[in-house]
Amino acid sequence: MNPKEQNKALEAWQASARYWDKYRVLIAQMFAPLTAGLVEEARIGVGQKVLDIGGGSGEPSLTISSIVGPNGSVTYTDPVAGMVETAQAEAERRGLTNIHFRQCSADDLPFADRAFDVAVSRLSAMFFVDPVTGVREALRVIVDDGYASFVVWGPKEANPFFSTVTDVIDRFVESPKQDPDAPDPFRFAVPGKLAGILVNAGAENVIERQLDFRIEGKVSFEQFWQLRTEMSETLREKMARLTPTQLPTIKQAATDAARRYFVSGKMSFPAQALIVSGGKSAGRGAP
Ligand SMILES: C[S@@+](CC[C@H](N)C(=O)[O-])C[C@H]1O[C@@H](n2cnc3c(N)ncnc32)[C@H](O)[C@@H]1O
Repeated sequence: MNPKEQNKALEAWQASARYWDKYRVLIAQMFAPLTAGLVEEARIGVGQKVLDIGGGSGEPSLTISSIVGPNGSVTYTDPVAGMVETAQAEAERRGLTNIHFRQCSADDLPFADRAFDVAVSRLSAMFFVDPVTGVREALRVIVDDGYASFVVWGPKEANPFFSTVTDVIDRFVESPKQDPDAPDPFRFAVPGKLAGILVNAGAENVIERQLDFRIEGKVSFEQFWQLRTEMSETLREKMARLTPTQLPTIKQAATDAARRYFVSGKMSFPAQALIVSGGKSAGRGAP
């Protein structure tokens, strides 16, 4: 990405921040299995110092804050001011005192070497400007027997939470073919791709786990449609290009495509993610 593209990407996240805040309760609930997977994989426990990279509206930092307890700490980071503000406001609202906030990008972490026990990133590695540098930075700031874990989406076909709406909209709005290495939720969906980046960044004992789970909530299709079309910059941009007559047709097609995932007022989508982790030295192996 050149600097102009980087700015555009950060502006898009800045515009998304208010929606990530608006849906924070639902996001926390829907993606809780990803946080649980990260916590388990990185063996996060009481008293640890944890770094969260690309923390968005606050997860997994807010959850980890209660796991590490008063003798541990979490340092939340995100390059987008709007995300940092909403996450910090939520931590203050909850009265959390063991959580610190820094606005910074994964590629240039403003922390001393070996400042943390563990580094985690939930759904943000796909957006790193230079993923090898981002992972190398994560390894630099953890202790010698530290561990870094990144959770990313598996293939689009295994994640109908995303594809049911995007596939329908793409039938109506032209989408240019994308560079597979450009920032995108599915940039690391191919097994082994992010693991290769960890290896290139110097991680030891790199391990990739597939996490199959369900994205669930007490949500109607109408609420899901609103959430999806508000939270994603790509969808906001595509929706703005629709003609007023296209919108009802598209919404009906999406309703039909998503019907089987909405039963008795409850949303339940199958989902797949990859948790990719590595140690800084050969000392910290796979659990
Ligand atoms: C899909 S959101 C995930 C947020 C949160 N971790 C969660 O799981 O709810 C992706 C986050 O990555 C952040 N991000 C974008 N570029 C980044 C970069 N270069 N370094 C670190 N984070 C970045 C965005 O600002 C956004 O908050």
